[in-house]
Amino acid sequence: MDSSDVSGDLTNVLITEAEIHAKIAELARRIEADYAGQDVLLVGVLKGAVMVMADLARELRLPITMDWMAVSSYGTSTQSSGVVRILKDLDSELEGRTVLIVEDIIDSGLTLSWLLGNLRSRGPASVEVCALLRKPDAVRIELDVKYVGFDIPNDFVIGYGLDYAEKYRNLKDIAVLAPHVYS
Ligand code: XMP
Ligand code: MG
Repeated sequence: MDSSDVSGDLTNVLITEAEIHAKIAELARRIEADYAGQDVLLVGVLKGAVMVMADLARELRLPITMDWMAVSSYGTSTQSSGVVRILKDLDSELEGRTVLIVEDIIDSGLTLSWLLGNLRSRGPASVEVCALLRKPDAVRIELDVKYVGFDIPNDFVIGYGLDYAEKYRNLKDIAVLAPHVYS
């Protein structure tokens, strides 16, 4: 972990920077094969997906465009409710577009489930999902996620875009947050 100033806040590094980049390259090769000859609109979900988007987009040898959406999920600080509000909508129209949602993490799946319904109602040709992380033990709604980087344990993770109280997004690795930070 290069950000040694916060290393006391972390229990352990779960996925290293090198492992993240190898996985993103692997996902990019699959996406290139599946979308050959198509113009893909990557929809990043702010703010957590910023790093995944930046690295995936540069890795893809495809003509892509990028757009962003920000949503907030009502619920407690650690559990989402599935009731979602749009904080920033897309700039693009989705009619007839080939859409790939780029997400940092799927926890309960409730936010993504809502997002899929919302984007599909706008008439795109297709909507698929690429999520770097997924917590199988937390899933409350089964979703068909075409591209998943890593299935991880049900711990709160930070780094590489993921935050706790807006901190730690700039860490290069993904790490487990030490319980003393949030208790
Ligand atoms: P749901 O439960 O709706 O929530 O799938 C997905 C959103 O919750 C956030 N989330 C996390 N953020 N570390 C984080 O920094 C985590 O371990 C974590 N789990 C869920 C995240 O914003 C995600 O989009
Ligand atoms: Mg998120």
